[in-house]
Amino acid sequence: MGAQLAERLRPGDVVVLNGDLGAGKTQFVQGVAEALGVQGPGTSPTFNILLAYEGRLPLNHFDLYRLDSADELDDIGYWEVLEDDGATFIEWGDKFPEAMPDDYLEIRLSTGGAGVRTIAMRAHGPASEHLLIRR
Ligand SMILES: Nc1ncnc2c1ncn2[C@@H]1O[C@H](COP(=O)(O)OP(=O)(O)O)[C@@H](O)[C@H]1O
Ligand SMILES: [Mg+2]
Repeated sequence: MGAQLAERLRPGDVVVLNGDLGAGKTQFVQGVAEALGVQGPGTSPTFNILLAYEGRLPLNHFDLYRLDSADELDDIGYWEVLEDDGATFIEWGDKFPEAMPDDYLEIRLSTGGAGVRTIAMRAHGPASEHLLIRR
């Protein structure tokens, strides 16, 4: 599914991944990265919070799990990254609703029984509707 989403991504798109620890948020971003042809590890301007990858499209990957307050986002250049020419993925966005952009795709992941994952997508704003994968 990450690969299918990668085909739709355009510069400036923001995708927010919500779901419990172990739901598959990081795995999903890795699928996107692979489909974008990312080679090798990303560079980390802020260790563990932001990873940046070079692929067909630059890929920014935030993980806000360890962040204590939305104020810290200013210090790590969060807002500038959202405006750059890459696609930006944000794990644990629902921790900081005040830090979500005007328009983004939300992906909610949850675990079911053995090996089962449920993935729900919702476009928050018209600019993210092209990212929806309808089944
Ligand atoms: N769709 C999936 N099917 C099977 N295993 C998965 C899937 N997504 C993730 N996993 C596995 O579940 C574990 C947790 O995934 P991870 O992406 O790190 O979760 P999160 O980032 O939401 O905490 C990893 O071992 C990962 O390989
Ligand atoms: Mg994760």
